[in-house]
Amino acid sequence: MAKITKLEDIVSLCKRRGFIFQSSEIYGGLASCYDYGPLGVELKNNVKKAWWKSVVQMRDDVVGLDCSILMHPMVWKASGHADKFADLIAECKKCNTRTRVDHLAEHAEEHTEHVSLDIAQAAEHDLSNKVCPSCGTVGKFTEPMPFKLMFETQMGANVDDSMTLYLRPETAQGIFANFRNVLDTARVKIPFGIAQIGKSFRNEVTTKAFIFRTREFEQAEIEFFCQPGTDEQWWNTWKDLRFNWYIELGVKKENLRLRDHASDELAHYAKACVDVEYKFPFGSGDWQELEGIANRTDYDLRQHQRGMRTLNKWYENDRELTNIDLAGEADDYQKGPLSYFDEEQKKRFIPYVIEPSAGIDRSALAFLVDAYDEEEVRGEKRNLLRFHPALAPIKAAIFPLVKKDGLPDIARNIYDDLKKYFNCFYDQKGAVGRRYRRQDEAGTPFCITVDGQTKEDNTVTVRERDSMEQTRISTDKLLGHLREKLDL
Ligand code: GAP
Repeated sequence: MAKITKLEDIVSLCKRRGFIFQSSEIYGGLASCYDYGPLGVELKNNVKKAWWKSVVQMRDDVVGLDCSILMHPMVWKASGHADKFADLIAECKKCNTRTRVDHLAEHAEEHTEHVSLDIAQAAEHDLSNKVCPSCGTVGKFTEPMPFKLMFETQMGANVDDSMTLYLRPETAQGIFANFRNVLDTARVKIPFGIAQIGKSFRNEVTTKAFIFRTREFEQAEIEFFCQPGTDEQWWNTWKDLRFNWYIELGVKKENLRLRDHASDELAHYAKACVDVEYKFPFGSGDWQELEGIANRTDYDLRQHQRGMRTLNKWYENDRELTNIDLAGEADDYQKGPLSYFDEEQKKRFIPYVIEPSAGIDRSALAFLVDAYDEEEVRGEKRNLLRFHPALAPIKAAIFPLVKKDGLPDIARNIYDDLKKYFNCFYDQKGAVGRRYRRQDEAGTPFCITVDGQTKEDNTVTVRERDSMEQTRISTDKLLGHLREKLDL
């Protein structure tokens, strides 16, 4: 059972062991931006590798993609983000703090991600008994107003050709914009998916909670294209697959659940959505979203067909998005440039899309919290991270028992040999017990110690992190033994 019950404990562990640091710390830090340290970057890379292996490498029906962060502004007009991707906020009249209206309702941790913006409904929010989370004043708020979440930037040095671009708020749109390219080049047939991992940016109103909600974060998304009518079956399939991925990587079942979105929570593009939620043990102990699995129907491909037809209006409008109406739906939209022709059925249609969309940073946080454990060993506290081997930043640490008698040379040779296959760490400083404890806290599954006996019979001790059991293994069998245990 994880013993971390306060967010500060995980923040402090992450800093102490070099998992995660505050960004720009030497200048006092930059709010809600974080840097991954030596262990953190390994953990995060392993989360990405495990995701890619599960959804691309091990499947015949999903291919990968890596799109640029900056995209044509019309992408965001067509997707609906330029007009609808906003939070409803209210400003405290006393301290001027702006808070998301849905967060005021709970005035603590929250479930809700970004919901469709409905300004018409803004007036329905009664804030008279809501408390400002910053100064505690009750009921003194401005009228709710929309706050746009996309970061803007300018491209181009010349006034004539410069234009406003957006840092992408989701990786998904790069996939939709490349649907035709992949279809024409990758010999794929529906049903198939396109997967991508990459950075996304949102000018979040409420951040806090460490790396749970930040303004720059990494997403791992699949857009799975299927025939309309089969979408609900594929939604159920992906729901199970994605839930089980977390369990297979060691998250305790009692800390994970699926939660269906209520209709007023759905994003502007979704017909249905279910969240994979993790029970973080701090804050109000609420369940929090790790991943959403949405049924996006044919919304995005249809919208991009309309966007493509409207592109000239954008040029006529001095490359501005405001006041552009997307072209109305043509009668033949099912035959448009983003449609699919099914050879067997001799039928053309716009595919429906099931989208499992995970947060890499959030998953890394959940894996960290879930793996954390404390226990007493011979009267002393032992802190450890019981990471699944696939996620462990370091797979094996190699120690000479003492710094003499030729043991460091033997240990170094073993280290040089093993590091060709997986991430290893060499350490010869301090008492061996302390070296074990440091690796326990980094989540290293195996420690290998070279001692006097190694010189006699070519065996080393292999100590297992969770059970602390030690076995003697001959050095020529070491690599095979570790690879089998690590499943690498
Ligand atoms: N394309 C769909 C989409 O972006 P989302 O629910 O807004 O859906 C998907 O985001 C996942 O991305 C979330 O489940 C979460 O893990 C991650 N995510 C979203 N906003 C985030 C933020 N501000 N900080 C960290 N992760 C975030």
